[in-house]
Amino acid sequence: MPSYDLIVIGSGPGGYVCAIRAAQLGMKVAVVEKDKTFGGTCLNVGCIPSKALLHASERFEEAGRAFARMGIKVATPALDLPTMLRFKDDAVDGNVKGVAFLFRKNKIEAHAGVGRIVAPGRVEVKPAGGPGSTLDAKAIVIATGSDAARLKGVAIDEKRIVSSTGALSLERVPRHLLVVGAGIIGLELGSVWRRLGAQVTVVEFLDRILPGIDAEVARQFQRLMEKQGISFKLASKVAAIDSSEQVLKAAVEPAAGGAASTIEADVALVAIGRVPYTEGLGLEAIGPKLDERGRIPVDGRFATSVPGIYAIGDVIAGPMLAHKAEDEGVAVAEIIAGKAGHVNYDVIPNVIYTSPEVASVGKTEEELKAANVAYNVGKFPFTANGRAKANQQTDGFVKILADAKTDRVLGVHIIGADAGNMIAEAAIAMELGAAAEDIARTCHAHPTLPEAVKEAALAVDKRAIHM
Ligand code: FAD
Ligand code: NAI
Repeated sequence: MPSYDLIVIGSGPGGYVCAIRAAQLGMKVAVVEKDKTFGGTCLNVGCIPSKALLHASERFEEAGRAFARMGIKVATPALDLPTMLRFKDDAVDGNVKGVAFLFRKNKIEAHAGVGRIVAPGRVEVKPAGGPGSTLDAKAIVIATGSDAARLKGVAIDEKRIVSSTGALSLERVPRHLLVVGAGIIGLELGSVWRRLGAQVTVVEFLDRILPGIDAEVARQFQRLMEKQGISFKLASKVAAIDSSEQVLKAAVEPAAGGAASTIEADVALVAIGRVPYTEGLGLEAIGPKLDERGRIPVDGRFATSVPGIYAIGDVIAGPMLAHKAEDEGVAVAEIIAGKAGHVNYDVIPNVIYTSPEVASVGKTEEELKAANVAYNVGKFPFTANGRAKANQQTDGFVKILADAKTDRVLGVHIIGADAGNMIAEAAIAMELGAAAEDIARTCHAHPTLPEAVKEAALAVDKRAIHM
């Protein structure tokens, strides 16, 4: 029976990064993956294909709308959807092959099949249709990720009623796309299909979009999305979707109860969150017991209640983000190797890759108010930033929240072009315990969008220069 120092179940960003770090630390490592390719949700049906489609559809819209304003004359762009979908598939292919290369380079042994933990230190691998095999290890890391949450009574066929996976591969542009859930997936993929020509209506249970994001940012973002043509029906829920005819008929009710109205659409995207995935792992027999939301409980060292079994990524508590899973992968490998692995959950950036982008790190105003923390706000709009004006991309602002007593940066919220890249500066500042004044005193290149971050830091002390 093959024997390892570590078996990682799942090759998503949590699992594959954990395996590589463990191999770097000298461990003999095996990875068990049930899907045909490595990389998990993120590389196959998540981050990478969605960003490829966001990129391509943004260029499509830019060519149609913004080029003429810059003096670039092109014929009205025509959509070649099969080629755009191939562009997305190529992006996935390149990334998943990259993981296979890294496994070979780090001498990580990959086993294809569903991994089931039959005892602490023992994993049975069952390939589809083939005989199973058994592997032994000193430690096991569960990195089995998550799956789309289902809407009660609504069956997903991935053709007309789709999860994000189906929405990444629609064969034609829907005339009307109904999106259930104004979260990150709904707004990213809603943006993609709107740019390609669909009418998009988003139905959201709460009375606001993007729960968890700073409310002021979410309000401005909703206005910008509406200007782009996306309609929102807030405080509403989809009670049922009738798919018996050619057009889908969704019964939409006020969240608080009341009479339903009907929305007709040709495709419905259900994007109401994701749930941890533990199917087939055999946890019912050997533990650990799942919490009320189906997550695997772990302690500060990612250890479950079963000795030698650890868990990381979407299958445990915390934001379901690839970089959070990756950092946990590194930390748990270091902990198993006897080092001091650690993840700072106060500094996990969050980016929504729409146009403009939304990016944040640290606390929102609502969280600081709820915790009774006194804070100062520094805000700077992109309308006053030279580079944004040059590019004529002036939507949005940077907002910095700093402790009223110490000036320490507690949260940074950006809405604007390239916000996702700009948030890295804020994350480093927070990781190093910077004060707003530290950012304000740091020389920023001109003309760049990050100058707005510096100006927002100056604005904390009411001394922004260009406002
Ligand atoms: P996963 O990536 O889900 O990987 C789990 C792996 O385990 C899978 O390959 C699965 O096949 C395998 N597995 C499960 N059970 C078994 C078993 N018993 N045996 C063997 N193998 C098993 N996050 C971001 O940070 N940025 C983004 O831009 C972003 N975009 C997203 C877009 C979409 C449409 C979606 C759906 C998600 C997106 N996410 C994004 C979230 C991100 O994909 C997840 O947070 C991340 O993939 C979690 O990593 P993980 O390693 O925990 O699990
Ligand atoms: P989400 O949690 O971001 O948003 C779900 C939305 O659906 C919420 O606003 C919620 O109030 C609403 N909702 C729930 N039930 C509803 C109902 N019955 N009717 C109407 N609305 C309802 O979940 P989403 O968008 O599915 O994404 C899942 C996760 O995937 C994200 O939370 C994120 O962790 C990850 N992700 C990250 C991305 C990024 O980092 N750029 C991109 C895409 C996904």
